Amino acid sequence: MQVDLLITHASQVLTIPSHAQGPQRGDRLGDLATIEDGAVAVSNGAIVALGSTVDLAARYQAAQTIDAGGRVVMPGFVDPHTHVVFAGDRANEFEQRIAGATYLEIMNAGGGIMSTVRATRAASRDELVDQTRARLDRMLAHGTTTAEAKTGYGLELTAELKMLDAIAQLEAEHPIDLVPTFLGAHAIPAEYQGREDTYTDLVVNEMLPAVSSFTLHPSSLFCDVFCEDGAFTLAQARRILEKAKELGFALKIHVDEFGPLGGTRLGVELGAVSVDHVVTTPREEIELLGRSRTIAVSLPGTPFGLAHRDYTPAQAILAAGGALALATDINPGTTWNESMQFIMALACRYLKLTPAQALAAATINAAHAIGRGGSIGSLEIGKQADVLIMDVHDYRSIGYRYGTNLVRSVIKRGQIINQAS
Ligand code: NIG
Ligand code: FE
Repeated sequence: MQVDLLITHASQVLTIPSHAQGPQRGDRLGDLATIEDGAVAVSNGAIVALGSTVDLAARYQAAQTIDAGGRVVMPGFVDPHTHVVFAGDRANEFEQRIAGATYLEIMNAGGGIMSTVRATRAASRDELVDQTRARLDRMLAHGTTTAEAKTGYGLELTAELKMLDAIAQLEAEHPIDLVPTFLGAHAIPAEYQGREDTYTDLVVNEMLPAVSSFTLHPSSLFCDVFCEDGAFTLAQARRILEKAKELGFALKIHVDEFGPLGGTRLGVELGAVSVDHVVTTPREEIELLGRSRTIAVSLPGTPFGLAHRDYTPAQAILAAGGALALATDINPGTTWNESMQFIMALACRYLKLTPAQALAAATINAAHAIGRGGSIGSLEIGKQADVLIMDVHDYRSIGYRYGTNLVRSVIKRGQIINQAS
């Protein structure tokens, strides 16, 4: 049979399947379903066959063949939590933090998220697109083939819509598929300080209805809230998410990054697709999460970036039967890092995940965390052919090695994007 592309001679093809059409949960996390001396056949941008090189080479004629040369072949990374769309940088705050200021102190003094809000409001849509494109290029080079992208540096309707427009333009022009999330409730803007409920009213009554008519992928426009001291209270988060749910948004919520406000319980109650950060989460909320369909998205780049000691209690979440995914959280304040490989390296060390568990958390579970588990995140017949050839022979090297880019080739929807010679 004729196919467009055949990838042969992988030391290991990591297929990393869904379990029962959902994420890999609890002690079943880390099922790579590896094929030794494997091959992948691709046609029309989708995977049509997986098997041994001997088998597939006998069955398929390919317009193009890539010999993986005994390297690992795996699904593209999915990054399910990013603040990749922003203008400017906060290198000055990095220096302040080294000198002892905390993230929340800087935020309460008018810096932090507000400083990026000022830069993002001042930028034209084209400037925002240009600055973001450079980051997406680096993400793609490091193997990310789909990413979630949040608004939240506009905090007024026109600037939030400008961010959604920038995401739509980048989604159309860039090889990375983008899944948009409205995060109008990222911070209380300076002009509403002391009038937090009035800003919450604005999000609920004006922004959400306006944004709900702005859809890239109608079924997967997410709404997110930063539920934290200094940002949105549990009651405000509930109002925003209940309204968003009513309007048909899928839900996400930033919870327990610095302190426990009950956000995990709220996310589970409202059927959020994911709760994100999940660092200071109390025991009973971990149990609730473990029994729910809500996915815990851990962002270990954030405590690392802030030089904090506490990370997501991943072992407790898995012991409770929960589903865990990994993401970069790339943003200019807490963690400017484009690489999911680096996130895996952190997760192995600080969350005590094995490389196999971290790989599944960064691919199939990450895809489920943005509602795309049916089409991406694993190498399974019928799925989009988003494939990486890694410059390693043993999958455990991903997570073990860090600080250099281990990606050799990125294949997006069956197209070879870059290939090392
Ligand atoms: O996930 N927690 C809120 N948002 C980001 C930080 C954004 C910023 O500082 O600009 C986070 O860590
Ligand atoms: Fe975030």
